[in-house]
Amino acid sequence: MYDVVVIGSGPAGYVAAIRAAQLGLKTVCIEQSSNDDGKPNFGGTCLNVGCIPSKALLDSSHRFYEANKNLSDHGIDIKDMKLDLSAMMKRKDDIVSKLTGGISGLFAANKVDSISGSGKVVGSNLVEVTKSDGSTEELEAKNIIIATGSLPIEIPAGKFGDKIVDSTGALAFNKVPKSLGIVGAGIIGLELGSVWSRLGSKVTVIEALDTFLPMTDPDISKETFKEFKKQGLDIKLNSKLVASKELKNTVKVTFNENGTDVEEEFDKLIVAVGRKPNSSNIIDESLNIAIEEGFIKVDEHCQTSVKNIWAIGDVVRGPMLAHKGSEEGIMVAERIADKHAEVNYDLVPSVIYSHPEIAWVGKNETELKDKKISYKVGKFPFAASGRALAVDQSVGFVKVLSDSKTDTILGVHVFGPAAAEIVQQALISMEFGASAEDIALTMFSHPTVSEAFHEAALAANNQAIHIGNKTR
Ligand code: FAD
Ligand code: NAI
Repeated sequence: MYDVVVIGSGPAGYVAAIRAAQLGLKTVCIEQSSNDDGKPNFGGTCLNVGCIPSKALLDSSHRFYEANKNLSDHGIDIKDMKLDLSAMMKRKDDIVSKLTGGISGLFAANKVDSISGSGKVVGSNLVEVTKSDGSTEELEAKNIIIATGSLPIEIPAGKFGDKIVDSTGALAFNKVPKSLGIVGAGIIGLELGSVWSRLGSKVTVIEALDTFLPMTDPDISKETFKEFKKQGLDIKLNSKLVASKELKNTVKVTFNENGTDVEEEFDKLIVAVGRKPNSSNIIDESLNIAIEEGFIKVDEHCQTSVKNIWAIGDVVRGPMLAHKGSEEGIMVAERIADKHAEVNYDLVPSVIYSHPEIAWVGKNETELKDKKISYKVGKFPFAASGRALAVDQSVGFVKVLSDSKTDTILGVHVFGPAAAEIVQQALISMEFGASAEDIALTMFSHPTVSEAFHEAALAANNQAIHIGNKTR
């Protein structure tokens, strides 16, 4: 009998398994995806076809773009530059192999057992594993953690095929599409749109909503929209995909833009309209565990209505982000080991890895207004940051929102260089309940782009040194 059986080895499941084993619990992780040798292929969406390969391509494509377009300003003249896409893809694949293979090493070091196959909870203490040859094995478990992740949403107007692809297909094109349509101006659309645009595709993004990145602060939404357009992404808001058809060499697409049907042809079409929880056929119905809109219903500690069955990561409510799933995995492992652990869902950071990056944590102005919370704004542009100018990345700003009365930081929103790292600094300070003044009283190295966070915190109390202050 295992103390813990984990189903799924993405960033939620493998982290939960390692933490459980570290706490002395006899643990096994079941993974349905397998390598050519039949052994489990660990790492889930994030390592195999998500966070890691997309960031590898974002980095490579950025280098290509810079070398092609921006280095002459620095007095560097590169002649006869050409793209070797297969080498770029090989680099990405090598990074993926290194990291997914690394999990086997981590499991061995932490004494986590693993089984290749598809897991299903068939009893409150029983998991059935179906192997690739169709045989089954039953595992007894004191606790079960479901971490089966999510899958791309397919829509009737854009059925996946050879030229109509999801994010996984878009990470593996074998040549740069001359023209690329993308349905959905969400995180995947913008990140992968940026990759292929930098490599030479003419990119058109078809977005149903009339607001760009509605989950971001309104200033961020406005500025980033301008910047993406400047970078060549033709983003069509208020545009809904009506139909698409794969032709011999192209995809014919009809979309409705502001009430008018428009037809266009693209070499490839990426459909990135969100992801859905992977919860079907994972839990036997006899257990009566509720599934709401595909998400396995859990409480704030990721416990289902059956007290020894837990669910974490993309398959439960909350943002579909790797770090959120991993923290839930750690919390659940600790709670199984009778330790006190919580996840602070108010402080989950978000990052869009465009260039420049977009990152935020906490509340934005729209949310504060909706909740009628009175707040102060401190904003500092990277155009006034010495380091940002020196590294040629002076687009964007840092925005600090703090409580009008207590000065406690309520949200930090960054569009610019190292935005993800700056937001991480903000998040740490917010975990400790920092005020804008606390950041203002902290010394920052010069010259760094983080100084923009310092100045924005100063600006929240009209004390910025390197810009004129104005009260709002
Ligand atoms: P998953 O990573 O989906 O893992 C679930 C695992 O369970 C899979 O290995 C699957 O094979 C296995 N499984 C499913 N059913 C069974 C079963 N019945 N039995 C056994 N095994 C099973 N998030 C970020 O935070 N940062 C990013 O930069 C980022 N970039 C992304 C880029 C792309 C293109 C995509 C698609 C996603 C990105 N994400 C990013 C989201 C991130 O990948 C997910 O939030 C994360 O992988 C969810 O982790 P998980 O462990 O819950 O599920
Ligand atoms: P998303 O939810 O971020 O964006 C989907 C977009 O498609 C939305 O703007 C939506 O309005 C639009 N849309 C929906 N239906 C449409 C239609 N029929 N026609 C036109 N537009 C339509 O989803 P996305 O980009 O697929 O990403 C899925 C998730 O993966 C993200 O929400 C995020 O959780 C995760 N992810 C995280 C990353 C990161 O942290 N950097 C990177 C990539 C993905």
